[in-house]
Amino acid sequence: MHPIGRSKFNVALTILSLMICSATGLEAASVTQPNKRQTVGTAASERNWWKNAVIYEVYPRSFQDTNGDGIGDLNGITEHLDYLQKLGVDAIWLTPIYPSPNADFGYDVADYRDISPEYGSLDDFNRMVAEAKKRHIRVIMDMVMNHTSDENAWFVQSRSSRTDPYRNWYVWHDGKGETASSQGAPPNNWGAFGRSSWEWDAETRQYYYHHFSVHQPDLNWYNPAIEQEFKEIVSYWLNLGVGGFRFDAIETLFEDPNLQNEAPLLDKNGKPVLDPSGHPRLQRTKEGDFPQVHTVMRQMRAHVDAFDANQFPGTRVLIGELFARDTSDLLKWYGPPQTPEFELPMDMPVAFINKLDVATFRERIAESETKLGGNVPLLVFDNHDQPRMDVRYGDGVHDVAIQRVLSTILLASGGASLMYYGDEIGMKTTPPTRKEDVKDRMGGLANWPRFKGRDGERTPMQWTDGSNAGFTTGSPWLPVPSTAASVNVKAEEGDPGSLLTWYRTLIHLKKTIPALEQGRNTMLDTQNTKVLSWMRRAPGIPVVLISVNFTAEPQTVDLAGPPAPANGALKTLLKSPGESSPSRLEHIELEPFGVYIGQVQ
Ligand code: NOJ
Repeated sequence: MHPIGRSKFNVALTILSLMICSATGLEAASVTQPNKRQTVGTAASERNWWKNAVIYEVYPRSFQDTNGDGIGDLNGITEHLDYLQKLGVDAIWLTPIYPSPNADFGYDVADYRDISPEYGSLDDFNRMVAEAKKRHIRVIMDMVMNHTSDENAWFVQSRSSRTDPYRNWYVWHDGKGETASSQGAPPNNWGAFGRSSWEWDAETRQYYYHHFSVHQPDLNWYNPAIEQEFKEIVSYWLNLGVGGFRFDAIETLFEDPNLQNEAPLLDKNGKPVLDPSGHPRLQRTKEGDFPQVHTVMRQMRAHVDAFDANQFPGTRVLIGELFARDTSDLLKWYGPPQTPEFELPMDMPVAFINKLDVATFRERIAESETKLGGNVPLLVFDNHDQPRMDVRYGDGVHDVAIQRVLSTILLASGGASLMYYGDEIGMKTTPPTRKEDVKDRMGGLANWPRFKGRDGERTPMQWTDGSNAGFTTGSPWLPVPSTAASVNVKAEEGDPGSLLTWYRTLIHLKKTIPALEQGRNTMLDTQNTKVLSWMRRAPGIPVVLISVNFTAEPQTVDLAGPPAPANGALKTLLKSPGESSPSRLEHIELEPFGVYIGQVQ
């Protein structure tokens, strides 16, 4: 049900549509020794670190509070760097930590060169980056270039007068049919969910454009000053030692300069498609996907590359938030080899299959190997905008086992992997039950009870079974889910059968087994509709086989023969609890939603 689209409309729709919405034993991991990390810190060893990286998204507000105000902070992240190192992550991406009035929890930036006091100070930031570096963990910042907060000084000036030098930094336009006594109609029909994307400013008597909330005015990217400003902002953070940026809502920097109306979206019978609030949906092809964004990103990439050219080439990474329709649509965001754009545009076509359908997973994973022109895929399943995996893929009975299946796809199919805080312990989506508790103004309040907002996937990290799950000594900004009593880091840390141990082991395998790092995928047993199997191989290294059962029944697969090796003994690297260790490729038994990873000897 997840709409995969290309425009900010689809981003918004994604957010909203998704709002509608045994004791385990980890056995036989023959790789339980402590993580052996590569030494980093020199230019050579740092280069291209992102190609096989595990990137961990932290929602800072919910990770760890250290000053008792109920809101997570940077010192809280620093406090848990050892935990993250032990998990095996290479980088943390922080959702925005800049000063913000929090109309959209940081995605409405008031000042791009500072830290929000609720998260700490620049000193805290510098300490966090330095401590992270000691543990070989890079810090990736969120870069919100499409819009700012309406409290950003640029916008305050922009709206102060039509002749202000900042006026042209935003998208201002006269109303249609405006008279001295009336504001007229918005310049065109852009909008969604029955609201216009234009807001009237009574003082200066013009409309401004905002794709997201009225508190997030869009920047005018046709003004070259904006690009210059963001290059300087990026340099500012590069100078502070960040490992890269995740670019927010990047597809929609540019809008149609002629402001043409959008056509209504029609179904295959030619009837208008209605959105969940009953309003006709528009195609929204005029609010994004304009080619100029690629020029901007090529220049941004060149800017970042030049920044490091002498000392540390290839050490920073640009990640894109994209809603590509399919793999070929995704490819364009890498850019041509001579003028590259993103190293890692997010592979949403895999993320939001939202159904354990073997054929679709097989096709999309194969395509990320064959149709991305040798570029590195960035797989992702969860983030702060979508209900967690339990809602999107779980069945309420086998959720932990299903998460083993998905984490195996995430971490054992090559490329870079992006995971979300709490995934590793199996945190569940816990939406508010009462309207008065909703904190996500953008998503939840306006649409209650049909959409409950994004609070459910942003609840405090569950560290212990103690008070507030160890997140805060104060009153947490979002309630701690009751599941924290059993689903928490402390309980899972020492348990060889826990999901946390599973993730640690899987990440360790990704980093240490040559075929997982360097191999290429070949799909196996390709007519099977119940089990997804693939191998990873490269010349001169042992082949690794991976099988994941997408069903609630036990399954058996025979993977011997081309394209897999004809026969061979198997050495188990990792398997779901309760599974026997197969000795040969011909007969691999899988438990319900079971996983098997083995190396052919
Ligand atoms: C995407 C972000 O992930 C989401 O949280 C935010 O609301 C929108 N972009 C607008 O910035």
